Amino acid sequence: MAVQIAPSVLACDFANIQREIEMLNRSACDYIHVDIMDGVFVPNISFGLPVTAAMHAHARKPLDVHLMIVNPDQYVAAFREAGAAIITVHAEACTHLHRSIQGIKQTGSQAGVALNPHTPVSFLEDIIEDIDLVCIMSVNPGFGGQKFIPRTYDKVRALKELIVKRGSQAKIEIDGGVQSGNAAALIEAGADILVAGSFVFQSEDPIATIAQLKALG
Ligand code: DX5
Ligand code: ZN
Repeated sequence: MAVQIAPSVLACDFANIQREIEMLNRSACDYIHVDIMDGVFVPNISFGLPVTAAMHAHARKPLDVHLMIVNPDQYVAAFREAGAAIITVHAEACTHLHRSIQGIKQTGSQAGVALNPHTPVSFLEDIIEDIDLVCIMSVNPGFGGQKFIPRTYDKVRALKELIVKRGSQAKIEIDGGVQSGNAAALIEAGADILVAGSFVFQSEDPIATIAQLKALG
């Protein structure tokens, strides 16, 4: 399947969110990536439920909500209500990850699990069949505009192998530092969805940049 693109609105102009969402509606992107940061799980605070709902009111692409928060189970139903099509929790934030995934699915949302750079793919070995999406963090979560960690390529290949071996339907998403210099190699390694924040929103023509990423796969 063709690579899918999920621009991260963390890098958008927050004073003009409606305009930014309408621009993404017109673009070739497949999802809108929504980064939720609580200042506890990660050393930064982004925005929460009302802003997510406001984006959803204008969005014609599914919202891919990335929860970088502690106790995510507590907020899953509310983010579904706010319009999430995919809800991704961090493996490092869930003591009972299997239960968290089931909780997401019960809301009708697709269930994703994100792995920090230090968390091995093998952590998901006994649960990969239950997951709709695995988000491999290619930076330490918390900020946009960081440098891509090259070890990510090996993790993508290892995850692809695990997914094939176990007959899982999970999609592989890469988040952090994605740009034209690493996107083709990530697709080659097995990536299905590329998140891109600063590369898209700091470019002169975000619609053309999205199309350019999309054309790589
Ligand atoms: C990082 C976030 C990313 C971030 C990506 O904590 O999860 O989604 O917005 O931004 P770039 O593409 O600028 O690294
Ligand atoms: Zn993210």
